[in-house]
Amino acid sequence: MNRYIYNASDNDLVAWNRNFTSRMGDGSGDPEEDYLSALQVVAAAKPDATLLEIGCGLGRIIQFMNHVGPIVGLEPDVVRFQASHELLHDATRVQILNCTSTHYKSHHSERRFGIVVVSMVIQHVPTATCDQILLDVHDLLAANGLAVVATTQQDEERFTYQADQTPRTAKEFDDYAVDSSSQAYGIPVRQFSKASFLAAIGRSGLSVVRWGQFSYVRPEKVAWFAKWMGSRPAAIQNVASSQYAILKRAA
Ligand SMILES: C[S@@+](CC[C@H](N)C(=O)[O-])C[C@H]1O[C@@H](n2cnc3c(N)ncnc32)[C@H](O)[C@@H]1O
Repeated sequence: MNRYIYNASDNDLVAWNRNFTSRMGDGSGDPEEDYLSALQVVAAAKPDATLLEIGCGLGRIIQFMNHVGPIVGLEPDVVRFQASHELLHDATRVQILNCTSTHYKSHHSERRFGIVVVSMVIQHVPTATCDQILLDVHDLLAANGLAVVATTQQDEERFTYQADQTPRTAKEFDDYAVDSSSQAYGIPVRQFSKASFLAAIGRSGLSVVRWGQFSYVRPEKVAWFAKWMGSRPAAIQNVASSQYAILKRAA
């Protein structure tokens, strides 16, 4: 198997995010505000917790939660690993490693974390890898720990590619997602529904403490987005484009 390559850039995200709103009129204006607040609540509730982030990318969530720790960030893409390693790794309090959670777990079978975060990762991997990551969250989470998982949301589950919204079967999506060395339509993007996200969580032995949604399509963009994703304005106008869950190990 080739090394994993993340076939997208974070540079376009600022422009893309202008299509969305938090719906919090008195808030920060950041469409992700509700999700970021949930991360702050978890960090405030567990100030002495160790933090694991699976798929830390360029390190923005670790920077955001940098007051807890020690921190371990895992990133399988070499270029993104190098960027977050250079920015954050200090070999003592913050460790950034170039690997997946499954690889990490196999080398640290006893290690447990008070907080585990998986932020906007599980929609970009094959469905079996998504289930494996959620199992890894379960296995690496301390008995009284809290995990936060954030991902996409649409009115119905759809399997798509970043540059081509044509709906694919789960098998087509998996075949495309498994080989990151040749992804002509950009990264795979599984658009979860609330039900498919909660079902994936249910398979992992984790239970939901709180579910929330964030990044609503701005009213003036709803018609465009509905057409783009093959839906109807009425079906998507009150369904945010992302969702998160705060999780604990099921009893
Ligand atoms: C959309 S970025 C999110 C980055 C970061 N978590 C954030 O919220 O800013 C998705 C990240 O998941 C990483 N990734 C892809 N497959 C992964 C896997 N199997 N395990 C862990 N991370 C993975 C990608 O390399 C990429 O950095």
